[in-house]
Amino acid sequence: MQRFTRALVLGLTGTLVTGSGAPRTASSWLQSESNIAVTKLFDNISPAGAKQGVVIASPQLTNPDYFYYWIRDGALTMQVVLNLYKQSSDATSKAKYKQALEDYMNLSQANQNAPAIAGLGEPKFNADGSDYTGSWARPQNDGPALRAITLIDYANQLLAENNQTEVQSRLYAGEFPATTIIKRDLEYVAHNWMNASYDPWEEIEGTNFYTLRVQRKAMIVGADLANKMNDGGAAVYYQQQATQIEQAIEEQLEDYGNGLLVPTANRVAGIDYKTSNMDASTILGVLHGQTANDPLPVSSELVLSTIYKLTQTFQKLYPIDQRADLPGVAIGRYPEDRYAGADFTGGNPWVLLTFAFAETLYKASAEIAQNGSMTVTPLTVDFYNGILARASLPTRVGAAETITASSNSTAFNDIVHALANEADSYVTKVMYHANPDGSLSEQIDRNSGFMTSAANLTWNYASVLTAETAQQSAQSRRALSVSNH
Ligand code: NOJ
Ligand code: NOJ
Repeated sequence: MQRFTRALVLGLTGTLVTGSGAPRTASSWLQSESNIAVTKLFDNISPAGAKQGVVIASPQLTNPDYFYYWIRDGALTMQVVLNLYKQSSDATSKAKYKQALEDYMNLSQANQNAPAIAGLGEPKFNADGSDYTGSWARPQNDGPALRAITLIDYANQLLAENNQTEVQSRLYAGEFPATTIIKRDLEYVAHNWMNASYDPWEEIEGTNFYTLRVQRKAMIVGADLANKMNDGGAAVYYQQQATQIEQAIEEQLEDYGNGLLVPTANRVAGIDYKTSNMDASTILGVLHGQTANDPLPVSSELVLSTIYKLTQTFQKLYPIDQRADLPGVAIGRYPEDRYAGADFTGGNPWVLLTFAFAETLYKASAEIAQNGSMTVTPLTVDFYNGILARASLPTRVGAAETITASSNSTAFNDIVHALANEADSYVTKVMYHANPDGSLSEQIDRNSGFMTSAANLTWNYASVLTAETAQQSAQSRRALSVSNH
C-alpha cells in the first residue's frame, strides 16, 4: 500500500513539470510528451553498438534484454519517422529523418538477404545486424507485411519527389523472381498469408487477426504501387489476395455474437491458457491494417464493442484500474497474460496498448464527425451511453438509432465529443503513471502503478506520436463541426 501511494504521488509530480502548478490536460500533456517521444525514439535508432538502421526495441540489456532489432517494432517506428519527414519543413530535421529512412531501407535489404532460420518471416535480429539463431517463435509473418507498408509509403513519397530511379532500382521493380525490397516482401505475403504464423505477442501460432489485417493492407497498398510501376499483372494478383484475406478475417475472426474481434483461430502451437480469446492486439490490427474503404472502420460496431469489452475486462482485473480518484483505464494484452518482462508472475497493462485505445477513439470521433451520421446498434448502445455519461453530457441513445449532424445536431455533437473525451481518459491514465521525466517503459505495474519491464520502449514513443496526430485531427474536426452550426 505504501508503495502504491508513492507511485501515485510520483505519477502526479510527473504531470506538474511546468511549474505553474496547474493540472495538465490530456492534450497539453500529449503535446509535450510528443517532443520527448521524438528525442527518445531517435535515441533508439542506430545507437552505439548497433548496425546503422537498427531500431532497438529498448536499450535495456537484462530482465528483459530488448537490445535487439524486431522487424515489427522497427517497421512501426520507421512509419512514424516517415510521418515526421513528411510533416517537417526544417532542413536539418528533414535530412536526419531522410538518413534514417535510407538506413532502414539498406538494413531491410540486408535482413532479406540473411540466411535467417524463418527466411523473410524471421522476427528478430541481433543489434549488430547478424542473425539471431536462438530458439524463438517463428515465423512471425506480420513482419514482412509491416515492412512493406512502411516502405511502400516511402516509395510513394519518393515518387512524389520525382525520384523514380531510387524506387525502381531499390524498392519496386516488376521483375520476377523479385529482387527489389518491397516486391520481395509482397511476394512473401502473397504466398504465405494462408500459413500458420506466430501472433504479435510471439506466443501463439495459428491464424491471427493482427497478422491478417496487416497482410491485407500490404496487398492493397502493394497493388496500388504495382500499378504505378507498370506491374499490372502483379497488381491484380495482390488485389485478389487482399480479397481472400478479407474473407478469412470475416469468416474466422469476427464474432458478432459476443461483440468481439477474435485474435486467433486454428491454433497449432504455443501457449494454451488464453481461454478468453480476447486480446488488445485486435485493436492494433484495426489501426495498423486500416485502409481506404476499410470493412472495419475505427467507428464500426465490432471495433467499438471490442474496445468496450476489453476495457471492462481490464478494469476488473487490474488494481490500478479500480481507483475512483484516478480517471481512465490502463489496457493490457489479454486477461490471462503472465508476461511481466523480467518473469512470468502475471500480466500488466501496457503503455502502447493504452495509447492505441486512445488513438482509435480519437479517430472514431473524427470519422463520425466527417461522416455526419452514425448508427447505434445493440452491440454499441451501452458503450455510447457509458461514454456520454462519463463526459457529463445529457444525451442518451437507443439500441437502434441513426443520429445525423443535420437532424439532431446536439446529440450528434455530444457523441463526437464523448468519443474524444473517452480517448483523453486513456491518455490521462498513462500520464499519471509515466515517469516524471516523461520516459515510458513497456508496462505499468498492475498493483503499484510504477513503470515496469523494458525501459524506454521504442514502440511506446511511436504510439505517443500516432495518438497525438489522431488527437489533433479529432480536435480540428470538432472545431469544424461546431463552426458549422
Ligand atoms: C518474449 C515475448 O516478447 C513476449 O511477448 C512473450 O510473452 C514471452 N517471450 C513469452 O513467450
Ligand atoms: C514483446 C512483444 O510481445 C512484441 O510484440 C515485441 O515485438 C517485443 N516485445 C519487442 O518490443
